[in-house]
Amino acid sequence: MTNGRALAKAYLEQQRLLGGDAVILPTAALAPGTPDLRPGSGKPASEALPPPGLSFDPPSGDLFAADPVQQARTLADVATLVADCTKCKLCEARTNTVPGEGPTDARLVVVGEGPGRTEDETGRPFVGKAGELLTKILGAIDFPREQVFICNVVKCRPPENRLPQYDEIAACVPYLFRQIELLKPTVILAMGGTAAQTMLNTKQSLGALRNQVHRFRGIPVIVTYHPAALLRNPNWKRPTWDDVRIARRILDS
Ligand code: URA
Ligand code: SF4
Repeated sequence: MTNGRALAKAYLEQQRLLGGDAVILPTAALAPGTPDLRPGSGKPASEALPPPGLSFDPPSGDLFAADPVQQARTLADVATLVADCTKCKLCEARTNTVPGEGPTDARLVVVGEGPGRTEDETGRPFVGKAGELLTKILGAIDFPREQVFICNVVKCRPPENRLPQYDEIAACVPYLFRQIELLKPTVILAMGGTAAQTMLNTKQSLGALRNQVHRFRGIPVIVTYHPAALLRNPNWKRPTWDDVRIARRILDS
């Protein structure tokens, strides 16, 4: 098989995984002189990054900070603190805390909203239906889930999967920020409005935040739809695919 054909095959497989029906080939996979017929592509996807967006630089703790979260030296330390946490009312109905999981040297961190039922039952992030889709989305950019640190803004399940409330997010977010401080990833993928607004300290809508390279303490943040929203809105799969490819390009650069 020629290299072009192999690439085309890989892309078709990625499209299939994402549930799309359009055939999308990167410019590199087109033979010289082949017209670029991809939908919506007047310009070659020269793979330039989208423009810079917001920057959020919350102060980070130092060695002498009295707060135990700031003193946590490892991701396991953070998880231990989370396991006993009663800082907000979400502690009341939880079965398990869901601190997040993944390798300590992960280059990509995925941030979701909060645990759902299956996550609450197992203590693991993104293991339900939305999690299956997340695994496919990561596969589509050649990222085995095992290489990604996956976590949420709140570490305990909101009752009936309601949105986490402002006070709950405020109570919980130091754990997330400390996890990111310890991980020092190359890219953060914020999935859904709660994750995007929390990572960037903004009330702007997800739609307004997409397609820009934001920064959290200098680390690029790419914003996209939440996998659970994609299950309800298959039309958002294509834009999600575009977003995760931006993250892939930053990881490759
Ligand atoms: N949705 C989330 O935001 N996080 C999970 O862990 C599972 C579903
Ligand atoms: Fe603590 Fe976060 Fe759970 Fe609230 S959601 S109890 S702040 S771990």
